[in-house]
Amino acid sequence: MSGDPEEPSAPRIEVHDDGTALATAVAGELLTRLADLQAGGAEPQLALTGGSIADAVHREVARLAPDHRVDWSRVVFWFGDERFVEPESEDRNVGQASRAFLAAVGATQVHEVPSTSEVTDVDAAAAAYSEMLRRDGSGRFDLVMLGIGPDGHVASLFPRHPALEVSDRTAVGVTDSPKPPPARVSLTLPTLNRARAVWFLASGESKADAVARALDAGGTEAPTVSDCPARGVGGDTETTWWLDRAAASRL
Ligand code: 6PG
Repeated sequence: MSGDPEEPSAPRIEVHDDGTALATAVAGELLTRLADLQAGGAEPQLALTGGSIADAVHREVARLAPDHRVDWSRVVFWFGDERFVEPESEDRNVGQASRAFLAAVGATQVHEVPSTSEVTDVDAAAAAYSEMLRRDGSGRFDLVMLGIGPDGHVASLFPRHPALEVSDRTAVGVTDSPKPPPARVSLTLPTLNRARAVWFLASGESKADAVARALDAGGTEAPTVSDCPARGVGGDTETTWWLDRAAASRL
């Protein structure tokens, strides 16, 4: 790492025995990070992600939160992506996060992407979410957390999808997600990159190839961002890959 503040830092890779240990480690570091940011006077802007390892992390945050000094009324929550479904649908990332920890810790600043009962279509939801970020965001996330799909997708930005090329909007609508449900709102790559720190979360053998491709481990030719969207996201000062042994097995 050159130490040049402009040059992004090299990714940090943290490997834990299994998904359970990984979730505990990420939750502990998240709580410490939030407390440290607040101790420095910040009101942390945090973008959550959906998916199973994220849910495990969220549940560990709820369990470990009493041991940490985080003022949850001063954490500003966003979502890297959201499924465009009914508000009560089990598929909503905000609903999963609320059940896992947001309600338990008493989070009060949770910005929800509009659902099908608030706007007519996914593009209107993306436009409304973009306006929410412009109005209520700080212009930069302190931390963006991202799961990764077996195909290397992050948020709802999928390989070779036109949404990957969108740079003139904060959020974009997707109607043909290969991962169900098909209709989603995603932050765009430039928006995800407006982050001091980016944490990738990956657990299980099914992610090992995507992780290796994203980190360009031993491949003959580095995949493009279009082929592996995770390669298009990094933090200004930190990019950490939180992995279990199975997900790290091809590094
Ligand atoms: C979503 C997520 C998506 C997810 C990855 C990994 O809304 O579906 O944001 O990007 O993080 O697909 O999901 P798993 O951890 O469940 O494999």
